[in-house]
Amino acid sequence: MLFFINVILSLWVSFAGGKVKGCDLPQIKHGYLYETTFFRPSFPAAIGKAYYYYCNDNFVTPAQQRGDYMKCTKQGWSPAVPCLRRCYFHSVENGHSLRAKYTYLEHETVDVECNPGYSLPNELTNITCTEQDWSPPPRCIGVVKGCDLPQIKHGYLYETTFFRPSFPAAIGKAYYYYCNDNFVTPAQQRGDYMKCTKQGWSPAVPCLRRCYFHSVENGHSLRAKYTYLEHETVDVVCNPGYSLPNEHTKITCTEQDWSPPPRCIRVKSCDMPIFENARPKSNGTRFKLNDELDYECREGYETSDGNTTGVIVCRDDGWSNPPTCRDPKEKCGRPPAVDNGDLTSFPLKEYAPGMSVEYQCQAYYVLRGDTHVTCRNGQWSQPPKCLEACVISEDIMNEHNVELKLINAKNRYFKTDENIEFRCRNGYNPKTPESSFETKCQEGAVTYPSCA
Ligand SMILES: *[C@@H]1O[C@H](CO)[C@@H](O)[C@H](O)[C@H]1NC(C)=O
Ligand SMILES: *[C@@H]1O[C@H](CO)[C@@H](O)[C@H](O)[C@H]1NC(C)=O
Ligand SMILES: *[C@@H]1O[C@H](CO)[C@@H](O)[C@H](O)[C@H]1NC(C)=O
Repeated sequence: MLFFINVILSLWVSFAGGKVKGCDLPQIKHGYLYETTFFRPSFPAAIGKAYYYYCNDNFVTPAQQRGDYMKCTKQGWSPAVPCLRRCYFHSVENGHSLRAKYTYLEHETVDVECNPGYSLPNELTNITCTEQDWSPPPRCIGVVKGCDLPQIKHGYLYETTFFRPSFPAAIGKAYYYYCNDNFVTPAQQRGDYMKCTKQGWSPAVPCLRRCYFHSVENGHSLRAKYTYLEHETVDVVCNPGYSLPNEHTKITCTEQDWSPPPRCIRVKSCDMPIFENARPKSNGTRFKLNDELDYECREGYETSDGNTTGVIVCRDDGWSNPPTCRDPKEKCGRPPAVDNGDLTSFPLKEYAPGMSVEYQCQAYYVLRGDTHVTCRNGQWSQPPKCLEACVISEDIMNEHNVELKLINAKNRYFKTDENIEFRCRNGYNPKTPESSFETKCQEGAVTYPSCA
């Protein structure tokens, strides 16, 4: 019962589908619809509807008329190829034909006989009427009388190892030849006959490279063959994180062996990162250097710059920045610690979004950055740095025979960027340029001048 319903249903569907579909305005190659020259019939046309059409010059209907009816069928317009080429046969240059017909229809062939010493291209013996007229044209061309001594790349003629055959060789004459190591004949033998034909030596390329397939470094291949002939290719699958050079996926047996060599090389790449409160806008699993990956924050979450989307870039050393989406209502914990710096207020355990704290540096340390740090999206903004002070060493001054210029300077401490002036000890003369006696504290580092 179910079966019958199915059959009836599908019959009905195909009938209804056909009826609904009809035929679109036909595109007649090398012809045109007669009706459309006077008025515009409506399309799609119903099944069974027929229109008269004409073919252009040199083209005829399948019944070899100027025009005919084309009919809309369930399979589309009939005839499907309404206009066929008509070729006119006059004569054969440097030859003749035993056929006497004057006109031929597309796809018909005519046997041609060429005069001695002449031939159709590729040793054809007939010409064919095609959409573009005769192919090849009815013209016999002069053929070579013989073949010169062949130059065999990667091989040699066997005969010439014993005596010198005379060249040019006559058409039809064959010589045995051998290929060098790693090269074989087209039939994959060490040697074979090469024959002088009207088109020259055959085979034209007598020796082809044979490539041996052992294994793929850092990868593998699904093909199991051991030897391959010139021009053959092998698909290669590289291990994760590896690729053939220039992202090739196959290697080709060339005259110079495998190209590229069967070796997968490490590629800089990034794996799909783990997203917290976000999802990637890509289905990829591995990303190439400089690939960008867009991501979208979960509803109600934001990136650190307050956006709902972000982008990360695959760099030499991994992803440019971690994709972090946070809840803007999230609170912050204790403010970050700053070396040689302190908060100006008593630290709380929790801070609401938007709250900020202030830092100050210990004596002689210089604050660089924002003194205020703010809680945003559950994260504190960048804290400042307290730049190291310089402590002048009595030992180093003794070693360099220098002392501080301000003798009353009990203070051996200097802040970053603070000027420090030295002078030579009594009885010593400057050994280093005058400018080196006026220096600056640079985040804990002092360059001492010298005297001798
Ligand atoms: C035309 O010639 C080719 C070879 O020259 C032959 O293979 C083919 O059968 C011929 N076609 C006809 C229709 O004679
Ligand atoms: C990921 O795959 C799913 C299902 O295959 C598809 O619907 C979606 O459009 C893909 N997304 C992207 C970004 O390509
Ligand atoms: C937010 O993201 C969009 C799309 O990626 C971008 O056009 C816009 O400039 C971003 N806004 C901010 C404040 O970064």
